[in-house]
Amino acid sequence: MAHGGRGAGWRDEAASSLLARHLRELELEGPVLVMGDVRSEVPRELAAMGLDVAEWNRRALGGRRATPWPPEGPFGAVTLRMPRAKEELSMALHGAAGALKPGGTVLVYGAKDEGIGSASARLEPLLEGVGTVAVGGHCRVLGGRLRAGLEGHRRTLEAWREVGPLEYGDFSGDWVSYPGVFAHGRLDPGTRLLLDALPALPAKGRILDYGCGSGVVGAVVRHRYPQVRLELLDLDTVALEAARENVPGARILLGDGLPRAGDEAYDAIVTNPPFHRGKAEEAEMITHLVQEAPRILSSEGGLVLVAQRRIEVEGAFRRSFRRVEMRADGGGFRVWEGWKPT
Ligand SMILES: C[S@@+](CC[C@H](N)C(=O)[O-])C[C@H]1O[C@@H](n2cnc3c(N)ncnc32)[C@H](O)[C@@H]1O
Repeated sequence: MAHGGRGAGWRDEAASSLLARHLRELELEGPVLVMGDVRSEVPRELAAMGLDVAEWNRRALGGRRATPWPPEGPFGAVTLRMPRAKEELSMALHGAAGALKPGGTVLVYGAKDEGIGSASARLEPLLEGVGTVAVGGHCRVLGGRLRAGLEGHRRTLEAWREVGPLEYGDFSGDWVSYPGVFAHGRLDPGTRLLLDALPALPAKGRILDYGCGSGVVGAVVRHRYPQVRLELLDLDTVALEAARENVPGARILLGDGLPRAGDEAYDAIVTNPPFHRGKAEEAEMITHLVQEAPRILSSEGGLVLVAQRRIEVEGAFRRSFRRVEMRADGGGFRVWEGWKPT
């Protein structure tokens, strides 16, 4: 809980209501593209003002339709719920610029502790007249108009693709990543501990890398067990673009949460799982995952995950699995495995 006992989603709610309350004071031309907002206040208010509204999301949160790059438009205005990573903000602004009519309006909104106060520096290269439109509830709305004759406009996802070396043990290769993708081309310390402590896996099994990001866990699993049937799942469509290239041949799944149980169960889930919703941390996301995993695992199947040490997962593992072990403990992380779902 933060800020007067409000729950994890308070930033989304406060930022979106702040913008929604001030929309009528702005001279907006439609259609309007609402980018990355998980709330309904902004699109609802725009529609009530008689403007045509389209929505774009790169993440399939709550089962939303998601695509890696915003639609072409042209739009008269764009609203952008500020992303967490600075480079992702720049990438989204370039996407917004490509979707706008000349001189179109951009409104960026977020909480102070998400860094909205210093976001103007990212807006200035693309927008003129950047300034604060509204402040309140620990949030701020910044606005500006698309500059004429933009230089260095990176107007496609491809223009943000980054390739660098990634090495882990005897696995090495060129690694594709994009802004806003977890660990962005590097090996996260938690992921490294998970890979160091990986137990033996069914060599021809069906294996899920849940929350795959750019695909490093899946890539190392397949390097060790070339015959596994590998599936990579994430809710971030941009991360999946990277994973598709980094782990060719793996099945790529877009989804929020574990997949539905299909005809054939998984033999193992290997994961550095999500425990963030925006800036908020939610340890329950991990305990929920441990509870839910048996639903899609075979009777001998297992879940292997890394979690921050302070997150209590052992109880959930013991309730969900017959054989439970902590495989590693170091650098503030622990790796747990559970086999044979109860
Ligand atoms: C801790 S990162 C791990 C990424 C990658 N496996 C690695 O180790 O580098 C967790 C990943 O889960 C994804 N994610 C977050 N919430 C999710 C959800 N509800 N369903 C599926 N994936 C989710 C994030 O986009 C992120 O890529």
